[in-house]
Order: sequence, then structure tokens, then C-alpha cells
Amino acid sequence: MSRINEETVREIRERSDIVEVISGYLPLKRSGGNYLGLCPFHQEKSPSFNVNAPRQIFHCFGCGTGGNVFTFIMRMEGLTFPEAVKRLGEKAGIAVEETPVTPADRQRRDQREKLLRINEAACTFYHRLLLEDAAGAAGRRYLRQRGFEGELVRTFRLGFAPDQWEALVTHLAGQGFSREELRTAGLVREGSGGRGDRDLFHNRLLFPILDPEGRVVAFGGRVLDDGTPKYLNSPETPVYQKGRTLYGLYQGRDAIRQARAVLVVEGYFDLLALHRAGIGNVVAACGTALTADHARLLKRYAEQTVLVFDADKAGRQATFRAMDALLPEGMAVSGVSLAAGEDPDSFLAKQGAAAFRTRLAEAKPALELFLDEQLALHGNSIEGVARAGEEVLARIRRLPSDLERNLYLKRLAARTGLDEALLQGKGRGGGPPRPAVASPAPVSAPQRPSAGPAERAQEFLLRLMLLEDDRYRRRVREEGAAGLFASLVQREVAEHLLALEDDAGRLPRELIAATLSPAAQGVLSGLLLAEGQAAWAEQPEKIFADCRRTVASGDQRQRLKELQKLIAAAEQAGDFAAVGSYLLELAEIKKNL
Ligand code: UTP
Ligand code: MN
Repeated sequence: MSRINEETVREIRERSDIVEVISGYLPLKRSGGNYLGLCPFHQEKSPSFNVNAPRQIFHCFGCGTGGNVFTFIMRMEGLTFPEAVKRLGEKAGIAVEETPVTPADRQRRDQREKLLRINEAACTFYHRLLLEDAAGAAGRRYLRQRGFEGELVRTFRLGFAPDQWEALVTHLAGQGFSREELRTAGLVREGSGGRGDRDLFHNRLLFPILDPEGRVVAFGGRVLDDGTPKYLNSPETPVYQKGRTLYGLYQGRDAIRQARAVLVVEGYFDLLALHRAGIGNVVAACGTALTADHARLLKRYAEQTVLVFDADKAGRQATFRAMDALLPEGMAVSGVSLAAGEDPDSFLAKQGAAAFRTRLAEAKPALELFLDEQLALHGNSIEGVARAGEEVLARIRRLPSDLERNLYLKRLAARTGLDEALLQGKGRGGGPPRPAVASPAPVSAPQRPSAGPAERAQEFLLRLMLLEDDRYRRRVREEGAAGLFASLVQREVAEHLLALEDDAGRLPRELIAATLSPAAQGVLSGLLLAEGQAAWAEQPEKIFADCRRTVASGDQRQRLKELQKLIAAAEQAGDFAAVGSYLLELAEIKKNL
């Protein structure tokens, strides 16, 4: 059987939002950071089926089924993995090779490729002009004045559109692109009054905008004087959607991943100035407000966003709007305010990188800033405080983590004098009641048949292995998973995690693979959904010892008994995925004995 190339799989996964896909099969309701619905894989009356957008996984706490967007389609439609990839690829407009694609698909793909080639050719053309052409002198002078030269200009592939009407259109027509194609790419405008087509950009410094794979999809162009508009941007095209594109993400992605945090600034020059100051984990929205799509895109690289804004009213408003887009996606958001009229570029020029880093270190949680703002806005009359409280509460409800919700409710109560118990009641949103104890996983579903102590120890060990810190993975690797995991399914998960680690001992974001057995996918998705639960507060040494004992002390007979009970319970609960995995384990043990 032919394999689909990994790049294509990744692209399709990135374009297929699991919430959107699953919503096509069953109604989902938002509940905290997750979406809840009635599980399509077993009979139930109250919803236990969770879909988690940030991690792009699903898991049913009723029957234990779980996985990612591909395995959902596989199970739902009874497809093989390549078939599921193709099915989702069709929806996302990404053709998977070696399948007969429809003519419409092919046309769309060809058009996208053409647009990318045009943008690439334009980028090369403008970049060369800026670097070495006589027509680019004004651009070079402007950049030099603002202190940008050399390396940075190349990394960001900056360009210059000369003060002519047809420089690009002539150049690209010479490369065989049609006028029509150039117009679709947005870089050329139809001439009026009998004139020929004209370039979109004249006499502007150009910032190529790249997609996360590093392909040029659009440009932003700044005037060199104080003409208007100050910035002109490519229009949206089939390869460029503002709401899904972030300037600087491609160049900053490694730094963002390492820091697990990303700065969001407003301007192209702000971003360059930060890079110049050695701060590379930064993106800018391209002249538009941050969207939930932006948030999801960033979630792949970072857990924390730092919004940098200027302290005037518009700056604060933009910050809170960004906060509203980011918080519900499970992103921690903080804010740094600069003096009114100041942006990172001007701040760095005046006060330098060290002062900026100090500001960053003083970033405050955005919700905290929002509370300040609301209290100031509504005044401290009883009604004012109540209004402010409601506004803040509306945001707290959207936080996906119980832990954070609780912290903020406490803080809100302390700051406003509103009754904490009352706030706690209101802060939970419309979802089902949750346990009073902080548990980040919005698990509102019936518990699966309870696992025995041996199985629980192994589950704890898997949790340890999922920590960012690789020390427990290293230990399991050294000791060997076989000596620690008596349960075959859990051992499969452990070995899978070890195989996924990169050379630096890091786990990728995407942990679930279609190559895992369904039972193992269920175990892993369950662990991921409940991630953040402080199960590993349990003594790690004790966990290791318990696991070892289960395997070593010939505890297999006891495990047999345990399994028989588990199977009976699982059968009763109609949990056939679990029955299957227990039976497998049972067979294996019997063979060993
Ligand atoms: P600003 O007006 O704050 O400009 O716009 P700036 O980034 O500080 O630019 P310099 O330092 O004067 O050169 C912030 C961002 O808003 C978008 C651009 O992305 C810009 O970087 N913008 C601004 C537009 O899209 N169009 C405009 O006309 C102005
Ligand atoms: Mn500026």
C-alpha cells in the first residue's frame, strides 16, 4: 500500500479543526475549554464525550474511546487511515497524491500553487530591488534611518516597490504569469480609463507575510513619508486570510516554542525591533484584531501570550479584545503596558532591551488588568462594582481550566468584596456542576469501572511520562517499559511516548497516532484531557515501586483475578473498548503462565 507523505498529513491535520469536523456528526456544546456531546460510540443519556480544541483530541469518559481527528473519522466512517486522511483532505482543499482527485480539487490546488509562486516571485523581485538596485535606494535609506540593516533584512526578506506603476506586472508577465493570475494574487490592480494593469505597491517598503511553512502569501507595505495609508496590505486571497495569518510566526517559531510564550505586538517594525534586540518569540497580527483562529495557531507553539500595548484607550481596548479571543482557547494571557503613544520599536530605541525585558517580567495577567479597568470604569458604587463584577465574571466563565477559574473567582471576590460563594456559583457557567476541588479537567462524566491499584500505579507512571521534564521518561527508558508496565495497553502507550521523543528528550505536541491500538489511543487521550490533574503529586518513587512490583512479583495471577472483575464491570457498563483491551491482556498473561 502506498503511503501518504507526512507533510501532507500534517497540513491536513492543521487545517482540520476537530471541533468543526465532529460537529458535522453530532451536536457539541461548549463546556469550559472543552466541547461536550453524546458519545457516538456507545449508548448514553448524559454527555461524556469530550472534544478538546487546543489539543485537537476527543475522549469519551464513558466508554474510553479517544483519539485525534483522523482516528475519529476512521471509527465513525469505518475507514482506514489513508482513507480518513483523504476524506479530511478533500474538505480542507488539500489534495492527497495518488488518489484520483476531482477536477475542482485539482483546479483549487493548482490555483493555490500558482498564487504561491507569484508571491514568491514578487518577493524575490522586491527583495533584490531593495538590496542592490538603483531603484531601491530610497528604501535602503529609509531602513538605514530606522536602524535596520544586513542580516535582519535578509531573514525577513524585506523588499522595496519602486516608484513606478508597472514594475512588478511587467516583470512577472515576463515570467509567464497571466494578468488575471496576478490580479487574483492581489499584487496587481486592473487599470482604469484605458490604462493597463498597475502594481498595487509603489514606493513602499515591503514586509513579506509568510505562512507557518515559510511560504510568502501576502505583503504589507509602508510609505516612506507621511502619505496615507501608512500601511497598505495585500487583499485576502485563497492563500491569505488575515484572521489566520500571523506576521513573524515562521521566523519566530523556534524561539516561541522554546519560551513556550509568545509576545503579540501590533506593528511590523515592532517585531523587527524586538528581533534586533534579541527577543525573537514574537508575532504581529497583520493590521487586524486577534481571532480565535490566531489563538489556535499560537496554541501549537506556546501556552502563554504576552500582549504588548500602548496605554491609551484604543490600546487597552485592543488588548482586551485580544484577551477575549485568547482566553477561551486555553491560552494564558498577560499584558505589558507602555506609555501612551509608545510602541515596542520606539520604547526599545529610547530605553533599550534591558528596560524592555524588565517590563516583560512585570507583565500582569490580562484578566487582572481587565478587572482594574472595569472597576475604574464603573466606579465603586454598589451598582458599579456589581457591573464590573459581571463583566469580569463573563470572562472567567470562559476560562477552560477549573484551577484558573477558581483563582480568579477568589481574586475577584477579594477585590470587589462580592461574596465568594456566590461568585463561585455564578462562575461555573452553564455547564454541569463540577466538584468543588480544583481539577483542570472538565470531567463531568460518569467514571469508568474503577481500576485496581496496579492499573492506577501504571496510569500515574504514564502521567509522569507526559510531563515536560523528561526525567521520568528517561528512567522508564533505562529500566525498560516491560519491567514497569504489566498492562499491555499502558505499556504500548509508554513505548509510544518513548519513541516520540526527539533527541533533546522533548515530546511533540501531537501525541496520538493512528498506529496506536484503539485501546491505547483511548488511554492516551484520557490522560491528555485530564492533563494538569495533580495525579503526579503522588510519590514518584512509590509509583515506580508499585509498577515494578506488579510486573516482577509474579503478580500476574492477581492481575488475572483483577482482570476478570474488570471485564465483568466493563461488560456491564457496555464499555466494549475496555473489554477488548482487558481480554487481550488476559490472553497474554495466560500465555505467560
Ligand atoms: P501603527 O500606525 O502603530 O504603525 O500601526 P507602526 O507599526 O508603529 O509603524 P511605524 O513605526 O510608524 O512605521 C500598527 C500596525 O497596524 C497596521 C500595520 O500592521 C501596522 O504595523 N496598519 C497601520 C495598517 O494595516 N494600515 C495602516 O494604515 C496603519
Ligand atoms: Mn512604530
